[in-house]
Amino acid sequence: MNIPPEVQQLIALAREMRHHAYAPYSGYAVGAAVLTDDGRFFGGCNVENASYGLSVCAERTAVFRAVAEGARAIVAAAVVTPDGGTPCGACRQVLAEFAANLSECPVWIATPDHLVGVYTLAELLPHAFRLPR
Ligand code: THU
Repeated sequence: MNIPPEVQQLIALAREMRHHAYAPYSGYAVGAAVLTDDGRFFGGCNVENASYGLSVCAERTAVFRAVAEGARAIVAAAVVTPDGGTPCGACRQVLAEFAANLSECPVWIATPDHLVGVYTLAELLPHAFRLPR
């Protein structure tokens, strides 16, 4: 597969973020990264808690960092898991909230060593919930 340089950068950032994961309970370290329409990259990792339900996934950490820095439109995302796992349902919904275009927003899935595949957000979350604006 011919991978554009900004996608390589996005995946590299997600891989790097995995090293920051705080996952002492599951042992499942995840890194994520999003690229925004103004060309900025934001990374995130999962952050678990002793009260398990308070844990936050890597994808949401990345999206919230982007939004907190003023970004509003995500054009691509990358997720790195130990086994090539794809984003959970909650994270798909959160990514969809800020995707510039669901059917044009690729979500690259990788392990620390390999690229596993790519799906659009529309494929990952068909019939996404959106309030009328
Ligand atoms: N996790 C993520 O960070 N992203 C996902 O999309 C799925 C799950 C995290 C949550 C928890 O810290 C660990 O992986 C095991 O579920």
